[in-house]
Amino acid sequence: MGSAARNAPLPWLKPAVLTGSLVPLAAILMRASANALGPDPIAQALNQLGLLALVFLVAALGCTPLKSIVGWTWPMRLRRMLGLLAFFYALLHVITYTALDQGLDWHAIGDDIVKRKFIFVGFFTFVLLIPLAATSTNSALRRLGYVRWKHLHRLAYLAPALAVLHFTWRVKRDVREPVTYGLVLGALLTARLVDHIGNTRCKARAWCSSKD
Ligand code: HEM
Repeated sequence: MGSAARNAPLPWLKPAVLTGSLVPLAAILMRASANALGPDPIAQALNQLGLLALVFLVAALGCTPLKSIVGWTWPMRLRRMLGLLAFFYALLHVITYTALDQGLDWHAIGDDIVKRKFIFVGFFTFVLLIPLAATSTNSALRRLGYVRWKHLHRLAYLAPALAVLHFTWRVKRDVREPVTYGLVLGALLTARLVDHIGNTRCKARAWCSSKD
């Protein structure tokens, strides 16, 4: 693909992906209002929202490897939006848990967080997502400076790993699904690491040759 085609404006891309990303939420709401979420609708909604948060976290992390390995640049335009969608679904997941599952009983919620390790890890994951979402704007990047912003956004690697742990500890027996997410995540993180090492070598080589 030529560079002109690669850098085409694609004005429809973000609105289309945003619309598609909200379809699962609409489906959950419609099924909830039709009483079609099964025998335990709150648990069903809770699990689906948690899974969606994880899917979007992994999708956001997949954008850079798609550029460095496949050469596609368009996913990079979606990275921030996918990260914010992950936060949005995580927030709905947490609201479903605190308001619908626990009836805003903060004592019981606190107990759950300290006594059940999978809830603790979920809580910690959510806490990590807050600064990521809060500093996702261009003005936050300017305010923090690129280097500090980049360091902070390394949390974007840790958060999905903890979300997979939360998922694995939640399912107890059949861990095939969380393990699949873990493998995809491992592959993406490895691709990022290999890319990072390659870039560091390139910079070092450029620096060395500038000294020759
Ligand atoms: C305060 C934070 C959180 C709490 C209290 C929490 C709590 C829960 C609970 C109670 C469940 C369902 C357990 C069951 O039905 O047995 C669950 C499932 C899940 N949560 Fe969380 N969670 C939190 C944060 C997160 C975050 C940040 C993510 C992802 C980014 C996430 C991803 C998931 C996933 C993938 C599942 C399992 C879905 C499935 O089984 O299909 N959770 N969480």
